[in-house]
Amino acid sequence: MGNERKGPGELPMLLGVMGDPISQTKSPAMHNAALQAVGMAGTYVPLHVRKERLEDAIRGIVALGYRGVNVTVPHKVDVMSYVDVIDEAAKEIGAVNTIVNDGGILTGYNTDGIGYIRSLKEEAVPDLSGKHVLVVGCGGAARGIVYALLQEKPASVIIVNRTVQKAQELADEWAHLGTIRCCGMEELAQVFQNQHIDIVINTTSVGMYPKMDELPISAELLLPHMVVSDLIYNPLKTELLSRAESIGCRIHNGLGMFVYQGAYAFEYWTGRPAPIEAMRTVVLNSLQV
Ligand code: ATR
Repeated sequence: MGNERKGPGELPMLLGVMGDPISQTKSPAMHNAALQAVGMAGTYVPLHVRKERLEDAIRGIVALGYRGVNVTVPHKVDVMSYVDVIDEAAKEIGAVNTIVNDGGILTGYNTDGIGYIRSLKEEAVPDLSGKHVLVVGCGGAARGIVYALLQEKPASVIIVNRTVQKAQELADEWAHLGTIRCCGMEELAQVFQNQHIDIVINTTSVGMYPKMDELPISAELLLPHMVVSDLIYNPLKTELLSRAESIGCRIHNGLGMFVYQGAYAFEYWTGRPAPIEAMRTVVLNSLQV
């Protein structure tokens, strides 16, 4: 508590997103629609913050009475130096994308991974426990997803990465959280042959606009029983998803991850359930113009 800008009849709740660049962000449209849908007075603005001004900008949250902000590229790691408290999961993941101001105390969270997992469960696989999951890539996005995934008690997680050492480091770091292994791209055909795989998740940018004909892994490896998920939402149906669908796989795109990472942030700031459908509609409409 301690936020003076909450509730009807009081000052509007101030929210925003800090990044560089920031002009393309869809978060303001999504959160302003969410505030409106739940009938809360408030506003969410894009904040263009350069690296050398990040610390000042974070102090500004308290000075200006912002209830919170999202933090996006390239500040998700650096911002950890400037908040007062870091949530345990965000600490393990090594990145913060959401800050909550409670009476001048700033707490950093990571809602990207849990947002993705909530989306995957709501839209494709309601129960992830006991599933065998293959994750392609092991960058920042993958860290959030794999961490949140391991909380769901999958039977196994295999990380495949172009640079296999990085996947090995991640598998070693989180060995205590579950059954997690790695492999190189050249071993992939063998892994698909010898190991049952339920879900394939692409966390790399391979297939994203404008290079939309690229595939992160060979589509020939996919089998109809697999759920194939791609974090990319531009385009909504990547080449990987399109090929997976034609094989008969169930497919899941990255739109839900964006919506649900925002939903968790909205819930932290407002204490109310996020109006998911209103948020999804706004983002979908903004993608189609
Ligand atoms: P993000 O924060 O979006 O995850 P990142 O931290 O730069 O971005 O990580 C990108 C991931 O996509 C990495 O796993 C990267 O593989 P490397 O570790 O080998 O660099 C992977 N990736 C990016 N471009 C790729 C490509 N063209 N082919 C295969 N993997 C790629």
